Amino acid sequence: MDDQTLLKVENLETRFISGETIIRAVNDVSFTVKKGKTIGLVGESGSGKSVTVHSITQLLPPLGKITGGRITYIKDGKEIVLNKIQKNGKTMRSIRGKEIGMIFQDPNTSLNPVYTIGNQVMENIIHHEKVTKKQAAEKALHILNSLGIPNVRSRIHEYPHQFSGGMKQRVGIAMSMVGNPKILIADEPTTALDVTIQLQILELMKNIQGEYGTSIIFITHNLGIVAHMADEIGVMYMGRIVEYGFTRQVLTSPKHPYTEALLQSVPYVGMNKQARLKTIKGNTPDPAALPEGCTFAPRCEYATEACNVYPDEFHLGGGHKVSCWLHKEREEQLG
Ligand SMILES: Nc1ncnc2c1ncn2[C@@H]1O[C@H](COP(=O)(O)OP(=O)(O)OP(=O)(O)O)[C@@H](O)[C@H]1O
Ligand SMILES: [Mg+2]
Repeated sequence: MDDQTLLKVENLETRFISGETIIRAVNDVSFTVKKGKTIGLVGESGSGKSVTVHSITQLLPPLGKITGGRITYIKDGKEIVLNKIQKNGKTMRSIRGKEIGMIFQDPNTSLNPVYTIGNQVMENIIHHEKVTKKQAAEKALHILNSLGIPNVRSRIHEYPHQFSGGMKQRVGIAMSMVGNPKILIADEPTTALDVTIQLQILELMKNIQGEYGTSIIFITHNLGIVAHMADEIGVMYMGRIVEYGFTRQVLTSPKHPYTEALLQSVPYVGMNKQARLKTIKGNTPDPAALPEGCTFAPRCEYATEACNVYPDEFHLGGGHKVSCWLHKEREEQLG
């Protein structure tokens, strides 16, 4: 392990078990989060992006359970296996929010409608730091101001419903940054916002990263946003990372048929204007009854008999990895 690694997810497997029904929401997922870098997780709805990050913070919904793999957080050179400690014990509580912050799609999730904005940010500061109320108030003003909330001194007395969506999301980011987390998990943080506001929020996150060296796990459906934000990308399909690599490799030279189809199905900044958008044929399979082999095979135009067995992960050089039999020979040539 190098000293740049902050978090390792290895062969993570998370399931929802209800009677006879088992949903394999996350299946054999591995990636590492490095200091100051952004990893993007992309994929269609239901591909397991949120369940992956909720597994990291141990905030899974009631029926969700990690059934395999390891999630290791490295704190001051010491490894803490997050899925082996009590999910509401002291260590986990000291990691959640303080080491690993979270920003959600709906900023209302992190705000309480009955308290003023100022109060909530202050309470959060007091929860994380040994400071007086006065110091907390000053710090709250400073953070909100640096996140671009105008007229902070009067606006901290307002309630969440008096703030626009973009302003609420700025407050959500402020709340998540209070403990100076090393890793920020952002689950579709701008999906609910207008395009121009989205860009402002993304710039804000980049500025924070530049200033504090924060690592980010960024979840989105939007390939344009992931191209803008991420250093490395994991493309998820039906609970698995099917392709992984540096953003440029994956977006300009996709190797998995699913990534290729995804790129052809959504518009994104920089795409060839003449390119026609295609839809990915077929539907995603029932998550409670996944096919034995490659889960994308039923929709894949290159599928062969080989795909009845789930493909190995092939390493294509430069960190680019793909789980697709089409690349077996390619890897053999690379030796
Ligand atoms: N509380 C739950 N109970 C049962 N199954 C769930 C629950 N939450 C998620 N799942 C299942 O886990 C799988 C992964 O869901 P997840 O929410 O991680 O997808 P996602 O990639 O975040 O999708 P989206 O882009 O829509 O947010 C899906 O099959 C989903 O149906
Ligand atoms: Mg989600």
